Amino acid sequence: MKEKLELIKKDFADALNNVKLKEELEELRVSFLGKKGKITQVMKGMRDLAPEMRKEVGQVINLIKDQINKNIRDKSIELEKKAVEKKISNEWSDITWPVESAKGTIHPVSIIRMELEKLFISMGFEILDGPEMEDEYHNFTALNIPEDHPARDTQDTFWLKNGKLLRTHTSPIEIRGMEKRKPPFKFVAPGKTFRNESLDTSHEHTFHQIEGMVVDRGISVANLIFTLKSIVSSIFGKEVEIRLRPSFFPFVEPGFELDFRCQICGGKGCSVCKRTGWVEYLGCGMTHPNVLREGGIDPDEFQGFAFGGGIERLVMMKYGIDDIRHFHGGDIRFLKQF
Ligand code: PHE
Repeated sequence: MKEKLELIKKDFADALNNVKLKEELEELRVSFLGKKGKITQVMKGMRDLAPEMRKEVGQVINLIKDQINKNIRDKSIELEKKAVEKKISNEWSDITWPVESAKGTIHPVSIIRMELEKLFISMGFEILDGPEMEDEYHNFTALNIPEDHPARDTQDTFWLKNGKLLRTHTSPIEIRGMEKRKPPFKFVAPGKTFRNESLDTSHEHTFHQIEGMVVDRGISVANLIFTLKSIVSSIFGKEVEIRLRPSFFPFVEPGFELDFRCQICGGKGCSVCKRTGWVEYLGCGMTHPNVLREGGIDPDEFQGFAFGGGIERLVMMKYGIDDIRHFHGGDIRFLKQF
């Protein structure tokens, strides 16, 4: 009988070794410990044993039963662990990885804005920010824009119920920049601007501008021209024809408008350049003494120049986009191209 038990032990050990699945474990348990199991069979044979032998064999059988139960439990834990490990190694996912279908792209306006910032930083400019909701003082009054100037007209400005407005240009940041620093300084300020305009291929109610201001002793129009020429050639990475036209902005004197050759049609005339072959790029000029004074700067000691222009136009030129309304259209097919 003892030999029989030894054999059963060995059978069990072999069978256990071959078990690969949790379900097989239960089968194994039944085949040894179940009603018709091998151990149960042996126990049935104990009736024929002498009483003193019965006790001894009974103890051995109990030991074997405990052992089998323990082995099955251990094996069950081991299989469970293996299953989890396998699952993890097959199904691991990096939760920081963007979902393929929801992957975003950088908006073309942001791409160019970042390029501009890099360019200006390399030229020693500071990058400033300002509020999109402005007060009348910073947007108009401090910029020498008189009470009756058409730019204040409700046609152009989005007035808010709280008496403030959505800035119509980035020029208020000139004032905010001057308030907080002592000359000499130079900074640029890119940002969103808003105008209550009727929309067409080159006009949007929400667009972006970049403002620039340089204040130092002995600044002249020559500095202005040199700086803007370098900027335009850097932006396009090639020689692009430009022209300066005298123009009027209340906060500069003299004031100019800088145009460059339309890069969409090469100057032949298209909807972007309104058939002129030229694109108005930015307004610029020597900062008006009143504006310097408003910023706490003595115009007898310091001079400055400023410029401000639309970012969308640059983006349109660079990527050959012929309708400004694409930028806020929200069409994913447009945005995915950049
Ligand atoms: N703020 C002007 C505009 O929006 C541009 C400008 C900026 C002109 C700085 C001169 C100097 O049209």
